Amino acid sequence: MDCSNAVRFGQHSGQAPRRARSLGLEPLDGATLSYRHPRSGEWAHDVRDPLREAVQVSVDPAWELRPVCTGERFACLEVGFGRGLNSATLLRKLREEQIDPSWLQVDGCEANPAWLHPWPALPEVWQDCAPWWGQDSGTWPLRSPNGQARICTQAAPACLGKGGSLGSGSGYDWIFLDLFSPGGHPEDWHPGLLEALTTAALPGAVLTSYTCARQIRDSLAALGWMVERLRRPGIRDTLRAQLAPLPPRS
Ligand SMILES: C[S@@+](CC[C@H](N)C(=O)[O-])C[C@H]1O[C@@H](n2cnc3c(N)ncnc32)[C@H](O)[C@@H]1O
Repeated sequence: MDCSNAVRFGQHSGQAPRRARSLGLEPLDGATLSYRHPRSGEWAHDVRDPLREAVQVSVDPAWELRPVCTGERFACLEVGFGRGLNSATLLRKLREEQIDPSWLQVDGCEANPAWLHPWPALPEVWQDCAPWWGQDSGTWPLRSPNGQARICTQAAPACLGKGGSLGSGSGYDWIFLDLFSPGGHPEDWHPGLLEALTTAALPGAVLTSYTCARQIRDSLAALGWMVERLRRPGIRDTLRAQLAPLPPRS
């Protein structure tokens, strides 16, 4: 994998959006796989095709700007981990592309693990890509690529602060921001969340989210993120943001 193939901020690869089912995958029962917010009824995923959503909203837009490379250390955080479909899709992509980082950290925080019960069977497409499946919290080794997954039941941003269970020693390269919609669930978007994510992110880090709410875009921009609203045919608008990379050493 050539890591120089990242596109620059504001550009797109020009590739047609990929449809998960056209990859020859088994159709998923999105409603069984997903769950609803107990108060608002909002679904946690696009139940029509949750794999496609994870690919198109979370993983591929991040990969475009900041690909994962063999031999490097790489850390990803999923906020609103739920069943971890975005993180599992990242692991699946690494396997498909035969990318072998020297160390991979996959972290997730899920504030309401009770909402996930009962867990459905793990679909074939994420087999061997979700060692956390069916468990609320813990640490699991990732054997190939080498690394670990850590899931905690502390809410963000507390999990990232002093005494929190997460926080990467060196910072995160990718952040999936996947809380229920800010308009309908302002109580989940705790004060200081975006600031803590900014502190936890490495220079050049990419954050992706399905929400394009103006309040989130403006807040990220004020914190130094370059924010894009991705408009792609056949896909709902999504958000991608990147922290400025470090200037190259002279
Ligand atoms: C849209 S769902 C996420 C779906 C998930 N990414 C998946 O792949 O299954 C949002 C989740 O965020 C969790 N949540 C709400 N507030 C949170 C917070 N402050 N920190 C972490 N998770 C939170 C909710 O319990 C809910 O399960």
